[in-house]
Amino acid sequence: MTEKVHEEIDRVIGRSRSPCMADRSQMPYTDAVVHETQRFVSLAPLGIPRAVTRDTHFRKYIIPKGTTIFPVLQSVLYDSKEFPKPEQFNPGHFLDENGAFKNSDFFMPFSIGKRSCVGEGLARMQLFLLLTTILQNFTLKPLIDPKDIDITPMTLTSNAPMSYQLIVIPR
Ligand code: HEM
Repeated sequence: MTEKVHEEIDRVIGRSRSPCMADRSQMPYTDAVVHETQRFVSLAPLGIPRAVTRDTHFRKYIIPKGTTIFPVLQSVLYDSKEFPKPEQFNPGHFLDENGAFKNSDFFMPFSIGKRSCVGEGLARMQLFLLLTTILQNFTLKPLIDPKDIDITPMTLTSNAPMSYQLIVIPR
């Protein structure tokens, strides 16, 4: 997977300039890796708790005004009809058969609607620029076999990962 991102970086950006946002549209594989990382990590699995502002009919339920609700984003990010084998990290979840980037209505790590994350644009730019800048200049290697890395999140309400050690090799 890293090799494919390296290949796309070298072909589209090269080594002599920094990545910029205009590069993303020509880098479907890297874009898919960023999307799949956000889907897989599911950083805010329960979203952020909200309260309904009035009595609300939802399917066969009435949710009384003031009730706290948790929009369970993970149930969408791990929907097995949309993302086959959702428990596996697979950038192919966001690529079509020709290798073009394929978006999904189920991609909602920032939630949706009026109160969705105001930092989404900034966060998505940072994720792309940081990843491409690091991988343009370095190869990352784990200290142990990747399958032995413990990816259990630190808490239940946020899937923020633990700290990991890795080897950073200049390219
Ligand atoms: C990968 C990074 C991030 C993720 C996954 C994320 C995710 C979320 C989610 C799920 C919500 C709840 C939305 C809802 O309840 O509908 C939220 C709200 C919010 N986020 Fe983010 N966020 C990220 C980065 C940021 C950044 C960089 C900023 C600021 C620069 C930011 C500022 C906010 C604010 C202010 C809210 C509250 C919005 C409101 O109450 O109307 N977030 N975020």
